[in-house]
Amino acid sequence: MKIISAINFKGGVGKTTIIWLLAKFVAIKYQKKVLVVDIDSQMNLTLDVHFDEAKGRFNKEFESWYLQHIKNKRTFLDALKAFEYGKGNFFDFPINATMIYKMSEKLHFIPSSDEMYWLESDLSNRDRIKNFIKIFLNKLERTTNFDYDYVFFDCPAYFNALTHSVLSNSDLIIIPVNPDIFASTDINEMLEGLSRRIQPLPPAKIGVVMNKAKTMRDVYLTPESKKFLKEAKQAKTVIEHKGISIEVFDSCVPEKGDIKKAMPTEKFPQEFEECFEGLWSKLKGLVE
Ligand SMILES: Nc1ncnc2c1ncn2[C@@H]1O[C@H](COP(=O)(O)OP(=O)(O)OP(=O)(O)O)[C@@H](O)[C@H]1O
Ligand SMILES: [Mg+2]
Repeated sequence: MKIISAINFKGGVGKTTIIWLLAKFVAIKYQKKVLVVDIDSQMNLTLDVHFDEAKGRFNKEFESWYLQHIKNKRTFLDALKAFEYGKGNFFDFPINATMIYKMSEKLHFIPSSDEMYWLESDLSNRDRIKNFIKIFLNKLERTTNFDYDYVFFDCPAYFNALTHSVLSNSDLIIIPVNPDIFASTDINEMLEGLSRRIQPLPPAKIGVVMNKAKTMRDVYLTPESKKFLKEAKQAKTVIEHKGISIEVFDSCVPEKGDIKKAMPTEKFPQEFEECFEGLWSKLKGLVE
């Protein structure tokens, strides 16, 4: 089981979009067993995938599972709170298949809740929580036969004890950037900040993906996007100098207005196939 997460303290760069489309790509095209976990209190991923805008509510099947799941106090957040009061690997919470929403045989989902917003004030033991993700996933593996190939985490734009745990236990951290003057400074500042807070760093490989790249005739990067990609690569040189290994990929995700529509569908959007194929071949190399 490999853990892959997306992070950038800049909002709206495409963390949620990239993590979800990658997870869907790997589950559908490569028939890998995938779990996706939304840990952002904004619940964007949970909403993007399960909310029916026309009807103004969650799709029926998800909604009935979700409401029951909250009522039974079987959420990921309930597990995290119980973990804080446990000892060592033990905590008193029934981690089992009922915590997981099965979208298909290969694609499983753990939703977020807006209660996650209060994590930073509700949880005090950051050192203990650092181990939560590993212990949670190990327990899930033991009590189910799901045997995930990959677990993808959609992180918020802010840093808290749970993000700390996810990033500390990730095999691969994806940093999505946009083609603008912040691309290179964001990478530098993000890694500078993480290296002071996550010890030892880097436990994970780090991959930078340019999202919302501007293209010409749907294929070539515009000179401006090329320039920002080049700057991101220069940031890589500075960071590597500090002993952190990082890849900046040439495979960029183009800006396309209909990407949001591709989020809830069961199929992988054909127009993004080539791009995600290129991206995944690079990411897979880093994570294996
Ligand atoms: N390649 C793309 N082309 C066009 N629109 C995109 C693309 N990627 C993301 N978007 C849109 O940009 C917005 C922000 O994307 P997303 O929610 O994935 O960012 P985020 O980094 O997860 O944001 P947040 O920090 O709020 O969690 C969404 O409306 C999404 O549909
Ligand atoms: Mg997001």
